[in-house]
Amino acid sequence: MDKLKMQTPDLSEENIKKIAEIFPNVITEQQDENGDIVKGVDFDLLKQELSKNIVEGGEERYRLDWPGKKSSILKANTPITDKTLRPIPEESVDFENTENLYIEGDNFEVLKLLQESYLGKIKMIYIDPPYNTGKDFVYSDNFTQSKEEYDLETKAVDGEGTKLFKNTTTNGRFHSDWLCMMYERLVLAKDLLKDDGVIFISIDDNEVHNLRKICDEVFGEGNFISSFIWKKTENIKMDSHFVSINKDFVLCYKKGKLTAFNKEMSDEDRFKLLDNKGKYYLRKLDSLSSSYSKSMDYVIEYEGKKYYPGGSFEKWKDRQDNGANRKDATWLWSKQKFEEGVTNEEIIFKNGNVYNKIRFTGEAKKPFTDFIDADSGQSAQKDLNELFDGRRIFDHPKPINLISWIYNLIGENNSSDIILDFFSGSATTAHAVMQLNVEDGGK
Ligand SMILES: C[S@@+](CC[C@H](N)C(=O)[O-])C[C@H]1O[C@@H](n2cnc3c(N)ncnc32)[C@H](O)[C@@H]1O
Repeated sequence: MDKLKMQTPDLSEENIKKIAEIFPNVITEQQDENGDIVKGVDFDLLKQELSKNIVEGGEERYRLDWPGKKSSILKANTPITDKTLRPIPEESVDFENTENLYIEGDNFEVLKLLQESYLGKIKMIYIDPPYNTGKDFVYSDNFTQSKEEYDLETKAVDGEGTKLFKNTTTNGRFHSDWLCMMYERLVLAKDLLKDDGVIFISIDDNEVHNLRKICDEVFGEGNFISSFIWKKTENIKMDSHFVSINKDFVLCYKKGKLTAFNKEMSDEDRFKLLDNKGKYYLRKLDSLSSSYSKSMDYVIEYEGKKYYPGGSFEKWKDRQDNGANRKDATWLWSKQKFEEGVTNEEIIFKNGNVYNKIRFTGEAKKPFTDFIDADSGQSAQKDLNELFDGRRIFDHPKPINLISWIYNLIGENNSSDIILDFFSGSATTAHAVMQLNVEDGGK
């Protein structure tokens, strides 16, 4: 099997990194002149990013492709000039003073219009797009169709008279249409996020694999945080042939600068050990890191014995000789911090491993897990029906506390973070945000 080497000639590696910061989607793995697989730039896609026309061509490389992908890039990059947002004070509540905005329209056009005022300003985006189940109505984005073809296949319209298009599995472009629809919106969404902004996307098994791939491209695979699991129902579906699918995913990517999520309260009991500075527990100083760094991959020598991150000399040597993978082991502390740790007894050597002391600082915190703690879909449906005197005006809303749960990962009390949901449905996100504002005095 080909071995992934990350060492390309120094300068080009630096340049590739710079390009990746602007266009993560064009970074790929390809064969170099020696037949090795190396990180490189997909020049066709880069050309497409810089072009006002569709760029032809393309050789074999590691990427997800589908018919219409280049059109999506072009479409996302082309400004629109003939659309504008029209305020409707008579249908609004407290129009002059509210700072909440609800916009009706095709979200692609709206996302473009928002670029002007909200570029780089949004802290959190949550979206719950059509899952491409074969039954979804979506806005037709196939701009290569003739008007007749378009009219033929569209049967429904939205409130503004815009035609909607039912994406069924018999459509030859079933996945491609959905991918185009998502790709061009995600490209625009990324630009709206703040540097420390985060996006959460609900999805299920129908497209989660494809969505992961296009998010890896758009946001950069190093910015993937988690695919959270939400248990949408407790009920076993008795007609399931294999297993009863009871979960949804919520994919989470950051724009780049965020370094950690909030933590939740933990109990103090974990800090069982005690020294003259107080309570602590021990954590192994090496771990599988999510962003390998050579400077953290040093050898520790202590009392005549050598220690390597991950424990294995052979693997360490292989990394030095052949290059490392992004997920290879490193130490968690820099060499300097480690040396200070040895001096002030924060580092312990035990059973052939290196540990550091995690101190109890008066407040014990632990990370949240990737299982979302929120109500079920049935309970969300019941709550929404109750708001409308028992009528079912919208199917399958998400629970309000799913949105508050994910916002708790990043939000601060009293914050004036801007939150966006561009597949609003019954406006669960708006409801959750307004409720959080009432609770914590934020805006
Ligand atoms: C799965 S629902 C979202 C449900 C929502 N999270 C809730 O809790 O009620 C997806 C919504 O996106 C809307 N939608 C689909 N395509 C859209 C588009 N191009 N522009 C705006 N909205 C769209 C659909 O009409 C639907 O209301």
